[in-house]
Amino acid sequence: MNRTSLSKTEVLELIRSTLKHDKSYKKGNVISTMCTYPDTFAQELFSEFIDRNIGDANLFPGVVELEREVISSLGDLLHNPNAFGNIVTGGTEANFLALWAYRELSGKHTIIVPETAHFSLYKSANILNLNIKTVHVNKDRQIDIAEAEKAIDDDTFCIVGIAGTTELGVIDPIAELSDLCIKFKLYLHIDAAFGGFVIPFMKDMNYDVADFDFALPGVSSITIDPHKMGMCPIPAGGILFRNKELTKKIEWSVSYLSGGHTAQTTFVSSRSGASVIAVWGMLNYLGYEGYNDIIKRCMHVREHLLFELDKIEELCPIQPPTMNIVGVTSTKYNIVEIAEAMRDKGWAISLFTEHMRIVLRPSVTKKVINSFIHDIKEVLSCIQAKI
Ligand SMILES: Cc1ncc(COP(=O)(O)O)c(C=O)c1O
Repeated sequence: MNRTSLSKTEVLELIRSTLKHDKSYKKGNVISTMCTYPDTFAQELFSEFIDRNIGDANLFPGVVELEREVISSLGDLLHNPNAFGNIVTGGTEANFLALWAYRELSGKHTIIVPETAHFSLYKSANILNLNIKTVHVNKDRQIDIAEAEKAIDDDTFCIVGIAGTTELGVIDPIAELSDLCIKFKLYLHIDAAFGGFVIPFMKDMNYDVADFDFALPGVSSITIDPHKMGMCPIPAGGILFRNKELTKKIEWSVSYLSGGHTAQTTFVSSRSGASVIAVWGMLNYLGYEGYNDIIKRCMHVREHLLFELDKIEELCPIQPPTMNIVGVTSTKYNIVEIAEAMRDKGWAISLFTEHMRIVLRPSVTKKVINSFIHDIKEVLSCIQAKI
């Protein structure tokens, strides 16, 4: 803190100067993240209603009503308009809440996840003191069902399936997990933090994507994040439970708040009402058609990327993509060296063990892909010249 106060201009200049090397989700060179630049209307809504704290529910009954409508709309998208849930800080909190709810209901301490699970599940298991059994994935990088079944023991209470893995956007065989969980009376949580806003629209476009949501009877809960493909500002994650009953052991009663007695089923107590309002705004402003158009455009750009990659001998997709995420690898050179050289050229690259992840979000246009391809060809020539 400064001893004397600064003018707003001075403060802004200092902030801008410190942030001058930060990247922006608006720019094409951030080709790898799952978060999107929030729609400008979502930003307007967020700033107009910045003071709303849905943690103090009775002080803001209107926001509570909007949250109920948001959950019902998302539930509708996921084949269960009667779902119960909340808009939370992100996919991490959403995943945590599901595991917390089921640990409390079952009194057990073991969960099963695929090796592709997001690290938020490991963080949650650590906080909740859970044993986490990690199951291998098959050649398509989907959870091995037979191995998952073998891993079940008397202490197991939940299996987590992923609908849009972090590394490649793969969808686990959720229908088979659903059958398994029904057979062994386990909870099934689906992490569709990224895929939740993509898969339903791809289905409508006749892409061959598997069922993953409440239409499958064994699915107990779903993480779906508006701050990823939902075009909403951070923080906006979503947790949907099949019914309210599933949250009864994580419902905390609070009596001292200004609005009077309330009950919370989230981890965070004071919670951004502006996030809820921005999500409600986007779901209604863009509507189904708007999201459909966005996904359609992303898929066109994906096809363009695949077409361009096909022309480069040294590069290829690590496997056929499931959704708008493509893993690029090299048949000839070290992918880490390629990724580092692309970072030196100003690209923000997500690097996994064997591939670079490219997430086709609205800011990643055909023009961006062309410029990416141009730069990566230069990188490949430099590497070749050094050999
Ligand atoms: C599949 C999946 N689940 C959960 C998360 C965590 O989401 P957040 O960063 O919003 O907490 C991510 C983040 O990328 C993810 O890819």
